[in-house]
Amino acid sequence: MVIKDYYSISEVSEILGNSTETLRRWDNSGKLPAAREPISDYRIYKKEQLELFPRFNEYINGNNFQGNFTEPNNSYSVLELFAGAGGLALGLEKAGLKCVALNEIDKWACGTLRKNRPKWNVLEGDIQNFSFSEYTNKVDIVTGGFPCQAFSYAGKKLGLNDTRGTLFYEFARAVNEVKPKICLGENVKGLLSHEKGKTLEGMISVLDEIGYNVVTPVQVLKAINYNVPQKRERIILIGVRKDIDLKYKYPLPYETIYNLTDALKKGDLFDCNVPKSEGSKYPQHKKNVLDLVPPKGYWRDLPLDIQKEYMQKSFYLGGGKTGMARRIGWDEPCLTLTCSPAQKQTERCHPEETRPFTVREYARIQTFPDDWSFHGSVSQQYKQIGNAVPVNLAKEIGYSLIAFLNKYYEKSNKSEASTSIASAI
Ligand SMILES: C[S@@+](CC[C@H](N)C(=O)[O-])C[C@H]1O[C@@H](n2cnc3c(N)ncnc32)[C@H](O)[C@@H]1O
Repeated sequence: MVIKDYYSISEVSEILGNSTETLRRWDNSGKLPAAREPISDYRIYKKEQLELFPRFNEYINGNNFQGNFTEPNNSYSVLELFAGAGGLALGLEKAGLKCVALNEIDKWACGTLRKNRPKWNVLEGDIQNFSFSEYTNKVDIVTGGFPCQAFSYAGKKLGLNDTRGTLFYEFARAVNEVKPKICLGENVKGLLSHEKGKTLEGMISVLDEIGYNVVTPVQVLKAINYNVPQKRERIILIGVRKDIDLKYKYPLPYETIYNLTDALKKGDLFDCNVPKSEGSKYPQHKKNVLDLVPPKGYWRDLPLDIQKEYMQKSFYLGGGKTGMARRIGWDEPCLTLTCSPAQKQTERCHPEETRPFTVREYARIQTFPDDWSFHGSVSQQYKQIGNAVPVNLAKEIGYSLIAFLNKYYEKSNKSEASTSIASAI
């Protein structure tokens, strides 16, 4: 088999097992954007974007894919912004990266970080009040899951100063101060379509202005493809400093998909059943309704009169709303966890008992280890867990950053060696 850089739509259709109509629809919706062949104008797909599909990965690597694990050749450092309860930071640490400082405004989340990692340098407070210039050229990676906010445009290419007042500005300001080799922004999938794509375009243009090439197309990673028993999707935006002529490669997906049994029982993911812990309860009315929903069922499984009464106006609005009054099944991955487990429209009921998942069950579904404790009230704990990047996904992203930095240092050591040889001649 010849491995190529580009594939035609019919080749992609054959490899992925999706029809060409589906691929055209995915192109139009931005789910899998195609480039165009300059002369024929036919759709073509870059190998890198296809690699995020387990079937393509299997097609290329057969059974030879051994995982993304890459050992760091040096000690690599990270500055983690908007650190929350440390999902991303912990995953990066598990991959072999070293967090030199973490910024977070929420005192409960800072408590969580300090409780679990007393040696981490937690910078508590609003990011606006911190300068990061002490880390200039001393940190390899800057990461951050900045909350998404709209920019105002004046019909021109967006620059850093045009984004002032937003948290993305603070992320970009930190990158500009620190000048890491690579930066990573994490966000919800909705950023792709936010303001019809203009917000993301603006971010790419700001990073370009401050000296970073964003890896395009910006990819959405599906947590289920990275050993996480949850259907969470996150945008991972990567910027590579412009003086570095190296390709960053997103982590390759795994074929095994884990489910709720893997999350809560002893098995491949955890070596014991989930420990008992606190958790919130449904109000009696909601409990009465959810008692009628079977595992893997949702509001449509209720008797019609209860559907109408429970859904109220939403009943007449159309759309699937498959997350409402939802009970998860043991043999499926959990739907995306939110910051509050009992909120309407996003119920994820336990498969056998009519209650939300407990704090420790929530943490398991996000692949936090059982000994990672959370600080604050039960609702503060749910919020921190619901906000996090799943630890196993973060670990795989960590390996991809290590692979990039290994190549960078290998190349720069070589060029340092060749410069010194050159100056000796
Ligand atoms: C999506 S969460 C980050 C989750 C984290 N990456 C993880 O994996 O656990 C975003 C975080 O940004 C924090 N945040 C929001 N505004 C902030 C600000 N002005 N300064 C610092 N942190 C802020 C929030 O408190 C929240 O914990």
